[in-house]
Amino acid sequence: MSTEQKILEMQERKLSLQMGGGQDRIDKQHKSGKLTARERIAKLVDPGSFVEIDAFVTHRCTDFGMDKETAPSDGVITGYATIDGRPVYLYSQDFTVRGGSLGEMHAKKITKVMDMAMKMGCPIICINDSGGARIQEGIDSLSGYGEIFYRNTMASGVIPQISVILGPCAGGAVYSPALTDFIFMVDNISKMFITGPQVVQAATGEKVTEEQLGGSKTHSQISGVAHFSYPTEDECFAGIRSLLSYLPQNNLEDTIIYENNDDLNRLAPELNSIIPDNPNKSYDIKEVIRCIVDNGEFLEIQPLFAQNIVIGFARFNGRPAGLIANQPKVKAGALDINASDKAARFIRFCDSFNIPIVTLTDVPAFLPGVDQEHNGIIRHGAKLLYAYSEATVPKINIILRKAYGGAYIAMSSKHLGTDLVYAWPTAEIAVMGPEGAANIIFRKEIETADDPVAKRQEKIQEYRDRFTNPYAAAARGYIDDVIEPEATRPRIISALEILQSKRETRPPKKHGNIPV
Ligand code: HXC
Repeated sequence: MSTEQKILEMQERKLSLQMGGGQDRIDKQHKSGKLTARERIAKLVDPGSFVEIDAFVTHRCTDFGMDKETAPSDGVITGYATIDGRPVYLYSQDFTVRGGSLGEMHAKKITKVMDMAMKMGCPIICINDSGGARIQEGIDSLSGYGEIFYRNTMASGVIPQISVILGPCAGGAVYSPALTDFIFMVDNISKMFITGPQVVQAATGEKVTEEQLGGSKTHSQISGVAHFSYPTEDECFAGIRSLLSYLPQNNLEDTIIYENNDDLNRLAPELNSIIPDNPNKSYDIKEVIRCIVDNGEFLEIQPLFAQNIVIGFARFNGRPAGLIANQPKVKAGALDINASDKAARFIRFCDSFNIPIVTLTDVPAFLPGVDQEHNGIIRHGAKLLYAYSEATVPKINIILRKAYGGAYIAMSSKHLGTDLVYAWPTAEIAVMGPEGAANIIFRKEIETADDPVAKRQEKIQEYRDRFTNPYAAAARGYIDDVIEPEATRPRIISALEILQSKRETRPPKKHGNIPV
């Protein structure tokens, strides 16, 4: 064979691999509203930047007639590319080849790019579209999953790991995405469950559709498994690109500081009147966020789950920060199990990747209730305390209004090592709300008064005058300053600047034992 012929042969081989499971299966994939594995990569990364590796890899299974079956690229496309000019590694399961099922070689391809991403310190993006463990390959498939889970764990806190669910993801396969930092889903395309509807019905008698059991709405609103959900694959890819713009490449690098055209000294006079005079009235914390961040741009994470706390990324004078804010509009902003879990995991992500944390506090309490107690608000709430205490990145807290009791401490208080705590003049910092406090400490006085109702109001007022302001806390240095609400943005920007050189160490240990 001449060199020319050899090159031609190589090109033909590659061309045939590009067709995956063949035109019929590609058509089926398109008919079901899905893109193919390669189309997905092409839409996600910078045009022309994808370099495929291991396209020639195939299975070596001989059981159940597999020796006569082909599996182009063994059902997963792997390689590297750039997104906004920054390198990423990725894999994309090809459902047209054996349903994207994972066997020995399929897993080896994945673990190879995971190892490379770790060595090179680049984010990894994992596009899942698979029937799960390749049944013909038995234990080799299971071992493959185990190898992936192990690497997901090793990579945690070293490189950002992003999972994109664009098809079925069932059984133990769900645990790789669950071990990664962010899960993206698309309506009517993504499905994640440990056991599908048929098994559920056999086991519990419950009738449920795939979408109800593990679709994007379920996981972004109810279970909290997904961080982002989108109506289409295209919007999902835009979301991934946006998320990456806030992240460093790895735990040893800093985030990119973008050119900022939003005045760093910009005041937001509307914030001076955002807190209602009536302490029981709510307002939208997202309005506050939009007023203080660069150009009002906020990438909210888990926007539909545990809405009593808001988390996400924004920039201050071009510098990315993680924002955590109580939402008074939902459950009065009280901390419950899901809100604690949501915020704690986000804090740990930011801390792993050198992203400063800005907290906006307006919290009446940990949510009371039998359900909360029985489901473990104690251990879940403890995660929040743990995560804030453990974090050594710059931490800034602005107390807007309520900061009561344990929830005051949990929300990035000075006592948990927050570097700068500011309060608005509307801040109320106390052990508990004036009504509850008066009922307890003045109970006898109220009960024995000629007019207990009037006495109660008087005592509530007395407590309110003494504590429902920021000055008692400021007198102890628990808050560093009381500021005009309109000046919040310049204060945060100046705080982030000065805290840039922060150095804080922790006692040497293997690892802590966060309550789970
Ligand atoms: C081998 C598989 C496969 C699998 C699908 N295929 N899943 N081959 N192992 N797990 C093949 C099919 O035989 C078919 O091959 C092609 O992929 C497309 O599948 P269809 O069934 O035609 O597609 P669709 O109708 O869209 O249904 C998709 C599906 C279904 C819902 C995913 O295929 C399905 O239920 N598959 C089995 C899922 C499962 O039980 N997996 C094991 C889970 S346990 P042809 O040649 O006809 O195109 C598990 C344990 C992991 O994953 C543990 C980790 C710790």
